[in-house]
Amino acid sequence: MPVVKFVKENKEIEVPVGANLRQAAMNAGINVHQGLNGFGAKLNKVFNCHGLAQCGTCRVKITKGMDNTSPLSLLEKIRFYNPLPDPIPCLAYIGNEETMRLSCCVKVEGDIEVETGPELDLFGENFFS
Ligand code: FES
Repeated sequence: MPVVKFVKENKEIEVPVGANLRQAAMNAGINVHQGLNGFGAKLNKVFNCHGLAQCGTCRVKITKGMDNTSPLSLLEKIRFYNPLPDPIPCLAYIGNEETMRLSCCVKVEGDIEVETGPELDLFGENFFS
């Protein structure tokens, strides 16, 4: 069974092949809805789209093993490329195209490492450089 390591939480879980990453994290007691740079995590834990790829709050970075996940889905592309109604997921995606995913859209197919709540760095080297 694939192993998912949540880096910030320092927690490893085994999941069945094809498991939904958001659901697996929730089952392990991990909140993937971290808000904006840590703000709003408690609100987002309740107020989110519950896996419909609409809110973008479940975004994570797959820091290892991106090849062991399902390909970027159409719903993810829409959420990451469409700034309406919420531009935050689009802004967060800039500079992180190789690693960022919506956990509700990711099927785990092998071992991966996941960073929950990736920081949004508007003024860092990823955005304006
Ligand atoms: S739960 Fe809303 S985009 Fe994933």
